[in-house]
Amino acid sequence: MQVVIEKIKRISIILLIAFVVIIIISYFSAGEHTNPKITNSVKWDSAETKKYFYAACADCHSHETKWPWYSHFAPVSQMIIDHVDSGRKRFNISIANMGRSKEAALEIQNGHMPPEEYTKMHPEAVLNTEEKDLFVLGLKKTFSQKQK
Ligand code: HEC
Repeated sequence: MQVVIEKIKRISIILLIAFVVIIIISYFSAGEHTNPKITNSVKWDSAETKKYFYAACADCHSHETKWPWYSHFAPVSQMIIDHVDSGRKRFNISIANMGRSKEAALEIQNGHMPPEEYTKMHPEAVLNTEEKDLFVLGLKKTFSQKQK
């Protein structure tokens, strides 16, 4: 019996060390998290529109990304960084030419944005029908008015 317990102990220690090593490797190969300089400020139509945008869109469409703890570990980190990079490339409120800002309202109406993988991890980004309608209207106003 004693021998078996000793064996289990030894295996547990080896597994624990292996686990810690994997976590460390994963952390150091997470990739680069950027929040480049902000060179544009949006003229929002209302405080609500801004609030909804920061709750549901800003993580991937601005330079104010709040990187969650799990974004610091590979391989999940790579997926998240790729998402933010390609989101920013198409539409980014932190740079003067914001990209496809005119499509923003439509992307919510057709259910493409925010992406489902995102809302699973960010319940605050889920809007009810009433909030969604207000947000869509707000985005239309915001991005059709003169920004400068
Ligand atoms: C998890 C990251 C993420 C979040 C959050 C997110 N987006 Fe996106 N968005 C993307 C990615 C990636 C793309 C480019 C690929 C695609 O169109 O699916 C994109 C594309 C877009 C585009 C360009 C579509 C086109 O025609 O090329 C718009 C506009 C947009 N998103 C608006 C929004 C709005 C508005 C919200 C908030 C309600 C939002 N997104 C939330 C990642 C995100």
